[in-house]
Amino acid sequence: MSGHGVHRRIARRCAVEASPAPERPERPGRSGPPVPGRRAAGTAACPPPSAQAARSAQAGRSFPVLSAIEERLDHSGARGLAHAVERAVRDGALAPGTRLPPIRRVAVELALSPTTVGAAWRLLAREGAIRTDGRRGTRIAEGGPPDPARYRRALDRPARPVLDLSGGVPDAALLPRLDRALAGLTTAGTPATYLDEPVLPELAAVLRADWPHPVEEVTVVDGAMDALDRVLETLVRHGDRVVVEHPCFPPLVDLLESRGAEVVPVPLDAEGPEPDALAAALREPTAAVVLQPRAQNPTGISITGPRADRLADLIAEAGTILVEDDSAGAIAASPSRGPGRRIPDRTVHIRSFSKSHGPDLRMAAVGGPAEVMGEVLGRRRLGQGWSSRLLQRVLLSLLTDPASVAEVAAARETYARRRAAVVGELAARGVATGGTDGVNLWTPVRDETAAVERLRHEGIGVAPGSPFLLLTDAPGGDHVRVTVGLVPERDAARVAAVLAGAARA
Ligand SMILES: Cc1ncc(COP(=O)(O)O)c(C=O)c1O
Repeated sequence: MSGHGVHRRIARRCAVEASPAPERPERPGRSGPPVPGRRAAGTAACPPPSAQAARSAQAGRSFPVLSAIEERLDHSGARGLAHAVERAVRDGALAPGTRLPPIRRVAVELALSPTTVGAAWRLLAREGAIRTDGRRGTRIAEGGPPDPARYRRALDRPARPVLDLSGGVPDAALLPRLDRALAGLTTAGTPATYLDEPVLPELAAVLRADWPHPVEEVTVVDGAMDALDRVLETLVRHGDRVVVEHPCFPPLVDLLESRGAEVVPVPLDAEGPEPDALAAALREPTAAVVLQPRAQNPTGISITGPRADRLADLIAEAGTILVEDDSAGAIAASPSRGPGRRIPDRTVHIRSFSKSHGPDLRMAAVGGPAEVMGEVLGRRRLGQGWSSRLLQRVLLSLLTDPASVAEVAAARETYARRRAAVVGELAARGVATGGTDGVNLWTPVRDETAAVERLRHEGIGVAPGSPFLLLTDAPGGDHVRVTVGLVPERDAARVAAVLAGAARA
């Protein structure tokens, strides 16, 4: 059973409830203007190899690999070319290790500008599909470890600052105490067989009771990143389009690019993703839409109720699947009211316990339609099978023990006060920030590099904004992400004064 079978079944099932849900075509979507006179790949049968060879010969191709690319090139522009190369690799027409001609040659033979070819090569290099290596030239990659490049850039800092506000992490002092939960663990639980239920039934019941909408299947995995990895592995094939927010959580972009997905950014306004931009993005077949319903990292924006409904309708009309990444979970001040509440049949919802209960618990719940979750669980059974039930017992205790619940509630209120204190102090110094929720403050600065450097000099670490950005031409200017959840209220004025100075640097 493939993830794409899942897509089609869900599209079919949901077409009954939603307005016409188009069947997802076999080919992934494309972006950019169509190339005049070129056949859209996947819209007609490819000519047999001999005919392709004849065409190349007629066209005087000195590099046969270009025929394989041209056959699949249905849109001009860098992304169109990059996808043509990806499809040629996926179809087996370009073998790993195949050498690509020099950029100028490709540009001349495919009637594209060298700038376009260069940009396509950069996209392919970033996702690890090609490698450029001195005298060996540029070649189709032969495999190798994926690289969390954006994530490393976001967290790159030469030396540990005195006050590190770069990491987006919770305050260790605000996490619920573990001693009570640990004291309740008597003996190490031994499963009767390795095929036992992966989730403790008591924990599953607690999770379901607090789920934002009715859900068919819920399981527990090793954190929200693990959940995203498993769900996107099921839903996304090489070359598929996936809609994300702009700005976006960098590891998600790294993950999607490592899977060869086309990342389609939709900008945010104060209420969440912009509906018109989402509607435009969904005009082409899309494998999934990944959104953060509240306390968006990095902007702190929580999707409003009316906006959530509008987005849900667009997603249902497009017949695609929504993945909600609720990473702030119980420390978010706003309620969980993402678009998924309106379209539970096509929503996979992820709730992390890292920010609220401890990043090293490595626990997140993920739930959604049985078709998607069946694939996720089936695939996981082939690997580690389940997340330790010992840790599940710890989480169950933290979610049900009244003292722990009160500690998490107190943490939520403290984060909200800390955020409000820095926001107020910044506003008093002429720096207006957006967003309302979570531990991070997306802070506008005149020049990102100068601000990061100035703050480092003052002993404060922040994350540069650019690794979060996907749309280079979107308005908004430079930003830094400041984890204000770590700033005690008594330090708000001092930190805001340094931030305001850096914002003007
Ligand atoms: C938006 C978002 N998604 C996922 C994660 C990863 O969460 P976890 O620690 O549960 O893997 C984070 C962590 O900061 C996040 O901000």
